[in-house]
Amino acid sequence: MALTIGVDIGGTKVAAGLVDEHGEIVAQTLRSTPADYPDQVAQTIAEVIKELAHGHQVEAVGLGAAGFVDETRSIVRFAPNLAWREEPLREKVAALVGLPVVVENDANAMAWAEARYGAGRGESHIVCVTVGTGIGGGIVLGGELYRGRWGMGAEMGHMQVVQRGRLCGCGNLGCWERYASGSALVEEARVIAAAEPRRAATLLEMAGGSPADIEGEEVTEAARAGDDAALSAFASIGHWLGQGMADMAAVLDPGCFILGGGVSRAADLFIDRVRESFTRALTGSGHRPVADIRLAELGASAGVVGAADLARRR
Ligand code: BGC
Ligand code: NA
Ligand code: ZN
Repeated sequence: MALTIGVDIGGTKVAAGLVDEHGEIVAQTLRSTPADYPDQVAQTIAEVIKELAHGHQVEAVGLGAAGFVDETRSIVRFAPNLAWREEPLREKVAALVGLPVVVENDANAMAWAEARYGAGRGESHIVCVTVGTGIGGGIVLGGELYRGRWGMGAEMGHMQVVQRGRLCGCGNLGCWERYASGSALVEEARVIAAAEPRRAATLLEMAGGSPADIEGEEVTEAARAGDDAALSAFASIGHWLGQGMADMAAVLDPGCFILGGGVSRAADLFIDRVRESFTRALTGSGHRPVADIRLAELGASAGVVGAADLARRR
């Protein structure tokens, strides 16, 4: 049985899995990301690969990285929210583990896994939006992963949605991921709590009193407890997600959208808002089918499974 290894490298965690040809994870492991040190990240990746490969015949390794990966699937040229700049990740890791390695964008890997094994099964035109620290995008067209000319397609988190808006990790102002991601959720909640503390009573109590100390999990918990500021923060990211998806539909006309990433675990708090805002913003509304907006099915393992599957098809 030919096995491949998928590694999903995020800002906080390095998750890896040994995956079979049906997309099933046979073994897995997890480390924290030494975020500011590219060489240590490569070391950590090599460690998890060696741990999983021990005693198995491994064909290849796929790395899913949260950044702009070049068209040869070797170099992370830029990462808005991590320290990678022109990072030769493929070479570094291949030298350490002695196996064929390909580098993929993390969201592309997730989208591929969902398309093949998850919420997108049977669909040929898919736009996957992963909502975490940033917004990741993955596009499958005619059953193929769309990478763009230079490997950097589907960076939809960096469409400008607000003129002279919030500063993004990419250096531009007003990017979609500054309004519709997990960090946007927290920022939104902090702003409301600072301006109108009475609306944020529960949230502020959970955070120990200071708006600056509000964290993502607290916003979710407070929203479930009915906190008005937390609910508004979710409504806001829901609104922006729907708007951005309508823009993507105007360009790509997908059969479905898949919403994934850490924040989508709290989707019950904002998915109605996403659909409502999508339908309202969709151009040509009433004269076209409305694409389905679905939740991802593979959860946290999508990136690992997708990277492993793409390595198999390298
Ligand atoms: C990056 C993408 C990445 C996404 C999710 C964005 O800020 O530009 O490359 O896929 O975050 O991690
Ligand atoms: Na992508
Ligand atoms: Zn940006």
